[in-house]
Amino acid sequence: MDFTGEKKHESLSKIATNDGHGENSPYFDGWKAYDRNPFHPTQNPDGVIQMGLAENQLCFDLIEEWIKNNPAASICTSEGVGNFKDVAIFQDYHGLLKFRQAVAKFMGRVRRSKAAFDPSRVVMSGGATGASETLIFCLADPGDAFLVPSPYYPAFDRDIRWRTGIRIIPVECHMSNNFHVTLEQMESAYTKATEANINVKGVILTNPSNPLGITLSKETLTSLLSFTSENNLHMVCDEIYSATVFNSPAFTSISEVMQETKCNPDLVHIIYSLSKDMGLPGFRVGIIYSYNDQVVNCARKMSSFGLVSSQSQHFLASMLSDDVFIEKFLEESSRRLAKRHSRFVKGLEQERIHCLEGNAGLFLWMDLRHLMKEPTFDGEMKLWRVILEHVELDVSPGSSFHCPEPGFFRVCFANMDDYTMEVALKRIREFVSKGNEDGDDKKLLRKKHWKNRNLRLSFTSRKCDESLMSPHQRMSPHSPVPHSPLVLARP
Ligand SMILES: Cc1ncc(COP(=O)(O)O)c(C=O)c1O
Repeated sequence: MDFTGEKKHESLSKIATNDGHGENSPYFDGWKAYDRNPFHPTQNPDGVIQMGLAENQLCFDLIEEWIKNNPAASICTSEGVGNFKDVAIFQDYHGLLKFRQAVAKFMGRVRRSKAAFDPSRVVMSGGATGASETLIFCLADPGDAFLVPSPYYPAFDRDIRWRTGIRIIPVECHMSNNFHVTLEQMESAYTKATEANINVKGVILTNPSNPLGITLSKETLTSLLSFTSENNLHMVCDEIYSATVFNSPAFTSISEVMQETKCNPDLVHIIYSLSKDMGLPGFRVGIIYSYNDQVVNCARKMSSFGLVSSQSQHFLASMLSDDVFIEKFLEESSRRLAKRHSRFVKGLEQERIHCLEGNAGLFLWMDLRHLMKEPTFDGEMKLWRVILEHVELDVSPGSSFHCPEPGFFRVCFANMDDYTMEVALKRIREFVSKGNEDGDDKKLLRKKHWKNRNLRLSFTSRKCDESLMSPHQRMSPHSPVPHSPLVLARP
C-alpha cells in the first residue's frame, strides 16, 4: 500500500492534499538521510551524524537516578502501583491539579521567580507543537497573519500555519545586526502587511531564539510589547528554551516584562514545553499559558484533542515538585551545556568557522559563507548537500529557517555524546582542510574515505536530488512510521 502521498485523491480535503506540512524541506530531508544511514561508533562509524535535532541529551543520568530513587512516582512499580487505578481512569481536560501546580511552580522557577504563574491558567497540550496550534486556533481565523522574525523555527510552518490556515509574515533580520530583531523592522513589516490589506493578528517571538541560540534583551521585549499593545496585536512568546540558557545575559521572560510595561495582558500568551529544558520531548508535554481568560477557556476545551497522558502528568508532578532535584538539575544542565557549547565553538574556530555568539539553546548558528562557491541560496544548497552526503553531517541550511541571507547553517550540539561530537569536529576539520588544500570540493569527494559504502548516497547532484527529495522515500520524522529518526536515534 502506498502511504507516501504520491497518489493525490481528488475526493480528499485540501489539508490532506496540500504541501503545508513542509516535510519536503531540507530541514526534514536531513533527518531522513540520517534515518537511512545513522552513525554508530562501532556498527556504522561512517554513518550520518545527526546534528539537525534540537534535543538535550546531556542530563539523562540525573533523571534516571531520580527515577531509581523515587519508585513511588511511577505507577509501574510495586511502590507506586497503588495509584494505578486512579491514574488509569483520570481523563479530565483540566489535568491533574498537582501537575498544573508543579508546572506553574517550575515555570516560575526557571524565570528566577521574577514572575509567578497561576496553575488555573496552565493548559496542557501535546508538546509545544500542539500548544502553538491550539493557541493560534483561539487567536486567529484562516487568512489572518502573524509577524515572525526570521530566521525562525522551520516547523512553525507546520505548527501554526498548516491546519489553521493563517499566514506567517517573516520579519527579515540580518547579519549586519547579528540577526537581532528591531522595533523598526517590526513596524515596517506591519505597515507593509496592513497596506496589502492583510489582517495582522499578532507577533510570534521565540525567546531564546531557535535557530540563533540567543536571548532577546529586556529592551527589545519591552519595545515589541509596547508595539503590539498599541496596535491591539497579540504577543505570543514561545519560551520553550527558557531554562536552556548557559551563559549571560540571563533569560528575560515576557511575563516579567509585562509587569513593567504598559500593555493589555489579554493580548499576551506564552508557549512552553518540557521538551528542551527537561530534555523530555517524548513525553509530549506542552503548555499554553495565556493571561486572557477566554483564551484559557477555549484552549482548555480544545486540549481534549491533545492531552498529556495522566501517567505522564502523575510522574512529572512528583519530579517537578522535588525542589532539591530541580535546582540541581537545572544548574547541572546549564553547566554541561556551557561546556559542550564552548568545546564545539572552539573546535569550529580552529577551522576558522565562526558562529553567532550564543548563550542559549541547543544549537549554533554557523557562518559558512566562505565555503560556498557562490553567495546564493543555490550555493547554500550545494554546500548543504556536500556536508550531508560526504561529510556525513546533518546540519540544517539557513534557508529552511527562512533566513534572508544565504550561507548560515544551524548545527545542534547537545543530542550526542562527547565521542560523537569529536567525530563530527574531526570530519569538519578534514572537510575544511581538504577544501583549502585543493580549493575544490569535487576533489574532496573523490577521497577514498568517502567512497564505496553500501548505505551511502552517491554524489551527483541529480542522484542526490532524487534520493533526498523523492516522494517515494519521503517520511515524516513525526509520523508513526517505525523508521522515524527519532526512534532510530535511540539505542
Ligand atoms: C522554538 C520551538 N518551538 C516548539 C518546538 C516543538 O517542541 P515540542 O517537542 O514540545 O513539540 C520546538 C522544537 O524544536 C522549538 O524549537
